[in-house]
Amino acid sequence: MKNMLVTGGCGFIGTNFIRYLLEESDFEGRVINVDALTYAGNPFNLEDMEQRFSDRYTFMHADIRNRGDMSRIFNDYEIDTVCHFAAESHVDRSISGPDAFIQTNIVGTFNLLELAREGRDRLELFHQISTDEVFGSLGRDGAFTEDTPYRPNSPYSASKAASDHLVRAYHKTYDLPVTISNCSNNYGPYQFPEKLIPLMILNALEGRPLPVYGDGLHVRDWLYVRDHCTAVWAIMKQGKRGMTYNVGGASEMENIRIVEMVCDMVDELAASRLDNPRRGLIGFVKDRPGHDRRYAIDFTRLKGELGWTPEESLESGMRKTVSWYLDNREWVDRVRSGEYRSWIRKQYGEEV
Ligand code: NAD
Ligand code: DAU
Repeated sequence: MKNMLVTGGCGFIGTNFIRYLLEESDFEGRVINVDALTYAGNPFNLEDMEQRFSDRYTFMHADIRNRGDMSRIFNDYEIDTVCHFAAESHVDRSISGPDAFIQTNIVGTFNLLELAREGRDRLELFHQISTDEVFGSLGRDGAFTEDTPYRPNSPYSASKAASDHLVRAYHKTYDLPVTISNCSNNYGPYQFPEKLIPLMILNALEGRPLPVYGDGLHVRDWLYVRDHCTAVWAIMKQGKRGMTYNVGGASEMENIRIVEMVCDMVDELAASRLDNPRRGLIGFVKDRPGHDRRYAIDFTRLKGELGWTPEESLESGMRKTVSWYLDNREWVDRVRSGEYRSWIRKQYGEEV
């Protein structure tokens, strides 16, 4: 793996993955980060990388929906490995506006697969980042395994399921070397504050309402983002081609308990900023349509075949996350004020 295309590297997980690859892992090649810089893409996330890794890191502002632009990048950089994160990723947005989800998640993935097929001779791996949401919802017991049938319930998860099926089909039909990982809810540094945990941390800090959907008893399995990155890299290096791997944090929790945990940690770590206990800000609001009740991940295959387990507990990962948002006020202010959007428009034009 010499020239790795990482798509969506300016988003939450992509940023953490590129940092992990260049700063910590044994990857020795070059990273070409392609990102369209949608509302979720923040170029400040990797501001320091071009100087620190000038010979190993390149950012390209491009859209995976544009096959011509992507083709030039595949050829110019002699891409031999793809790690595909780029996606519209927020379930609520997919309910109010599914179009971009179909175009980016399905058509964008199709474009990358076609280019990978054209460059088949040098392609070592196409790794698809997917989600546990493709499996639908669980009852009280059990967990998703790699053999659980796909039953997506939102436009977001349906679009991810469609793209996973294409990746699988390109392996079966064209013998493309692929791997797929289906992971649970990530949390940690650089997450855009529309997702539950960063939204609750920042609202709690600012004394704003903490909206919990429905009865708050929906369950997610929380995975600290660095643990996800180590899993992806292990799969890319040693995973069997054509295989799918589940990645989970072994940290199932009801949403209301997550929000209470955030409140208590913010109270503890930012005591002087607001005197009242933050739990008083919690309110129950109208439920999300089609809201999946429970996700849980069985990652026996990843543990058994590749020896991977998550390092962080929910307590330790949450502590690191709350501390990161407290210590990185400049990043938070740029995101909250929209300054990063004005910077992108100045750099790349009004249409971005
Ligand atoms: P994110 O929304 O934070 O980042 C997505 C990135 O993709 C952004 O930088 C955005 O600018 C870029 N992008 C969007 N459309 C693009 C396009 N057409 N062309 C090029 N770039 C484009 O998402 P995330 O939370 O980092 O998720 C990354 C991947 O992981 C997604 O595929 C998502 O489905 C998957 N995933 C996320 C989670 C989670 O908990 N966040 C869990 C499981 C799987
Ligand atoms: O499971 C993996 C998925 O996790 C990823 O594929 C998605 O890209 C990612 O966005 C995430 O999806 P969720 O819908 O689970 O994440 P979200 O942070 O939006 O919501 C987590 C839970 O919290 C969910 O049950 C809805 C609830 N919620 C969310 C928000 C934003 C609230 O109760 N209040 C809120 O304000």
